[in-house]
Amino acid sequence: MHRRQFLNLSAATATAPLLSGCFGDSDEFPVSLKAGFPDSGFTAKSTAEDVTKGLDLTGKTMLITGCNSGIGFETMRVLASHGAHIIGTGRTKEKAADACSSVYGKTTPMTLELTNFESVLECANQVGALGIPLDGLICNAGISGRKEKQVVNGIEIAFLVNYLSHFLLVNKLLPAVTAAEQGRIVHVGSRAGYSRTPPEGIRFNTLGESNGGFEYDSWEYYGQSKLANALFSHKLAQKLTGTNVTSNALHPGFVKTSIARGQGRLTELAFDIAGPLIAKNIEEGAATTCYAASHPQLAKTNGEFLFDSNVVTVGGDHFMENDALADRLWNVSEEMLGKYLS
Ligand SMILES: NC(=O)c1ccc[n+]([C@@H]2O[C@H](COP(=O)([O-])OP(=O)(O)OC[C@H]3O[C@@H](n4cnc5c(N)ncnc54)[C@H](OP(=O)(O)O)[C@@H]3O)[C@@H](O)[C@H]2O)c1
Repeated sequence: MHRRQFLNLSAATATAPLLSGCFGDSDEFPVSLKAGFPDSGFTAKSTAEDVTKGLDLTGKTMLITGCNSGIGFETMRVLASHGAHIIGTGRTKEKAADACSSVYGKTTPMTLELTNFESVLECANQVGALGIPLDGLICNAGISGRKEKQVVNGIEIAFLVNYLSHFLLVNKLLPAVTAAEQGRIVHVGSRAGYSRTPPEGIRFNTLGESNGGFEYDSWEYYGQSKLANALFSHKLAQKLTGTNVTSNALHPGFVKTSIARGQGRLTELAFDIAGPLIAKNIEEGAATTCYAASHPQLAKTNGEFLFDSNVVTVGGDHFMENDALADRLWNVSEEMLGKYLS
């Protein structure tokens, strides 16, 4: 073994406990292909290009939140290269425009700052004003838990950005998705949604300023926000049954992106060191999202969870399909959003 390989291996070994602390123990939550769904033939090594090979998406329009970085950028690049018109959102007009102008194909940049409900409404209005059906609505933008608890306008930031503002956006854009021949709503969740949540799934009394009497654990806040993505998809899928719109959630894999920003230097370092060795690259990381958004095999798939470009079942003790929690989350979300939803 070369010295460099040895150093890389040592670094990966040293950082593995920290990263498993982030994502939880995989033995506890075995993932298997879901009965009744064919093996797609794709794997963790499949890229976004692989899963979209031969597809012609001309005439389709899809919105991707967080198009300027990581999984969102690669998803936009690949879907646009197959002919889809991509509405790519960024936190500023410049970020969205820079990202959109750097890919081949038809793109429309839009501003969307998910810590600001007014920005969400403005974005939804602008999309509505285009007057075109949305074949895909890909809720991708997200942040990891912060090193210290951060609250914006009374709402914990991971829950706000990763879930609540997407809940508002999706509800506002449902008419545009329903107007498509076969609309797909894709929620980019995470395995943290079952492996790193608080024991009760979502601690509703920690969604504001209060820690509910618990010690702050940034990964639990991230985990509950990602569980919220899955529960939203689950409940929305039930509401959409019998329509031409589907809702599915997914885990993209552990992908070397900028997601650890804000987690503190130690976690960022762990991602930097171990990322290139054990994580998917961006091309692989965007595969499941592209598959969920565009593959003909999923035209009627609704209310499922995807992993490595396959429909899967996640074993173990978790809340991903818990109807009572999904109902409660929906009601609490409506209360938190109040006038913005009407
Ligand atoms: N990477 C992984 O291992 C992994 C694993 C499981 C799930 N995921 C999920 O994958 C999704 C994409 O993440 P990524 O890994 O590609 O990370 P990334 O490279 O950091 O991209 C995140 C995107 O979200 C945007 N964003 C962050 N805060 C926002 C806000 N307040 N308003 C609007 N947009 C905002 C970012 O914009 P700026 O660049 O302007 O901040 C960026 O475009 C996330 O939902 C994440 O939870 C990732």
